[in-house]
Amino acid sequence: MSESRSAHIIAITNQKGGVGKTTTAINLGTALAALGRRVLVIDLDPQGNASTGLGIPLSGRDFTSYDLLFSDEPGPLRTCATVVPGLSVIPATPDLSSADVDMVSDTRRLHKMQRALAPDRTEADGQDFILIDCPPSLNLLTLNALVAANSVLVPLQCEFFALEGLSQLMRTVQSVRAGSNPGLKIQGIVLTMYDRRNNLSGQVAADVRDNLGTLVYDTVIPRNVRLSEAPSHAIPALIYDRSSSGSVAYQRLAGEMLARMAGTRQVAEAV
Ligand SMILES: Nc1ncnc2c1ncn2[C@@H]1O[C@H](COP(=O)(O)OP(=O)(O)OP(=O)(O)O)[C@@H](O)[C@H]1O
Ligand SMILES: [Mg+2]
Repeated sequence: MSESRSAHIIAITNQKGGVGKTTTAINLGTALAALGRRVLVIDLDPQGNASTGLGIPLSGRDFTSYDLLFSDEPGPLRTCATVVPGLSVIPATPDLSSADVDMVSDTRRLHKMQRALAPDRTEADGQDFILIDCPPSLNLLTLNALVAANSVLVPLQCEFFALEGLSQLMRTVQSVRAGSNPGLKIQGIVLTMYDRRNNLSGQVAADVRDNLGTLVYDTVIPRNVRLSEAPSHAIPALIYDRSSSGSVAYQRLAGEMLARMAGTRQVAEAV
């Protein structure tokens, strides 16, 4: 099979907690699926928020991201269907919190996800995109995602300390490039929880764009209550309220991402 058929793997990462990683994984995934792409979300956070938000109850999480990392089962990926056609998930359970310790003595510990997502497996599954929802830490789980990924998507919350921690994340990306994954790209930086009534949001957005230029998506995700309500109904916001400002923004983000990938808009590889 040609290389172009293998899935594009995107690690959604920011070691800061609560910046919108999971909300982005769920709703960008849904928006890409709505545009006809086959998408797999891998929940790599023991909190399991992406699994819950995509409607997979704890009792239904048979094959988890822990199993993905630790089982040597060959063959196609075992994924769980969601209510969204074209969108599947490999869910997480709290067991995943022991993964760091369980892999620490493994000499190939940084390559477990890369091995699990080898092209022959993802091609067999026919995915276009694999979105990995990372935990809020630069731990072994996140490093596994970065080693396996083609690119990194960084949600940045529009708040005063938005850029804090970003340089550490970029240094980590550089060291993964220097070591295991030289082709790792920055997919883009997406500003989240933008509040247009709050001057600070505007100032932070301008500051981030000054610093990071075209790496930052034009699309901004607004603060929108529908995005925070949807997970309690176990459905993506795009299904819960498709015309809400948050849902519209994620649809726009999916379009912008695909357009940039198609080369109609070049992203400067600045970092
Ligand atoms: N644009 C938004 N508008 C309003 N609420 C939002 C928005 N994005 C995320 N939220 C809410 O903010 C909280 C944190 O978001 P989310 O869980 O996506 O962040 P996270 O980076 O994945 O967090 P963690 O680091 O804990 O994994 C959640 O309650 C979510 O519903
Ligand atoms: Mg999360």
